[in-house]
Amino acid sequence: MSVITARGLTKTFVRNKETVEAVKGINVDVAEGELVAFLGPNGAGKSTTLRMVTSLLEPTAGTATVAGHDVAAEPALVRSRIGYIGQGNGGGHSYRVVDELHNQGRFYGLPRTEYRRRAADLVEALDLGGLGRRSVQSLSGGQRRRLDVALGLMNHPALLFLDEPSTGLDPQARANLWEHIGRMRRQLDMTIVLTTHYLEEADQMAERVVVIDHGSIVADAAPAVLKRDHAADVITLGVAGTPTEVRSALTQDLGEVTITDDEAGSSVVITTSSGATRLPEAIVRLRVAGLTPTSAELSTASLDDVFLNLTGRSLREEAA
Ligand SMILES: Nc1ncnc2c1ncn2[C@@H]1O[C@H](COP(=O)(O)OP(=O)(O)O)[C@@H](O)[C@H]1O
Ligand SMILES: [Mg+2]
Repeated sequence: MSVITARGLTKTFVRNKETVEAVKGINVDVAEGELVAFLGPNGAGKSTTLRMVTSLLEPTAGTATVAGHDVAAEPALVRSRIGYIGQGNGGGHSYRVVDELHNQGRFYGLPRTEYRRRAADLVEALDLGGLGRRSVQSLSGGQRRRLDVALGLMNHPALLFLDEPSTGLDPQARANLWEHIGRMRRQLDMTIVLTTHYLEEADQMAERVVVIDHGSIVADAAPAVLKRDHAADVITLGVAGTPTEVRSALTQDLGEVTITDDEAGSSVVITTSSGATRLPEAIVRLRVAGLTPTSAELSTASLDDVFLNLTGRSLREEAA
């Protein structure tokens, strides 16, 4: 069952007579219960896509159905079924944490006893206990983002959209936030779509990654599948032995083997999809042939390699 279906979703902005094709005909389906991360560099079109599927921004072309409702025809019904937490919410204001949550509950028309109970539950679930009486502006970045998530969950949405929830947080706070998001997802049986420009985060935390670049989806799969299909592991070995000797020990069935001459003997580079098993195999073969490995290094495929192979650019460098 698809809870999100987008077809040919397009957004073109015209500003000062300049045309920006922010999103160029995106097709995407999200099944009930999935956690999907949109990964892409700044300006890729992640926020614009999210704003269109949440009915906040009218598409220039294309359609999207969310929770059974067309975003253009029934925006109010779409909004009643979803939670949306925009990029950099929780601005510096002086409301207390509990007031923010209660206000959100009132906004959704919940009865007083119900919104108070939900607020208390969310404060507990998102580790905001003890912070209820604090003002929002006094919270740390990680606490503020957890409050944002709590606000998005006050109406118990079936579908939650989070735009860069972890941006600006340190790696530990990021991992902690994901843990909370994952737990809330199981407790409330939610489908979650979020965006990030952190490669490692998408790799470690997301079950499915939609890679977006210049307004188009360039890949859509589990991180392991993306790496298998679009990147490779690289083994580098130093060997005491001539390239000719090494070549007869290490045949191409190990992967793509390149051997060059160097001062200590040979330098070997093996490109393979399974570096972790090929590396010991290569060492054993060298030893059997009476050759001594002098150094070994394994560089495993990353989502940055995937991005580089798909777009010709490094997302890591772009972020830096
Ligand atoms: N309201 C707007 N007016 C004009 N251009 C916009 C507007 N919103 C976004 N853009 C442009 O659209 C492109 C995609 O932006 P955005 O969706 O925010 O990317 P991301 O969230 O991936 O960083 C960028 O080039 C951005 O400058
Ligand atoms: Mg954005």
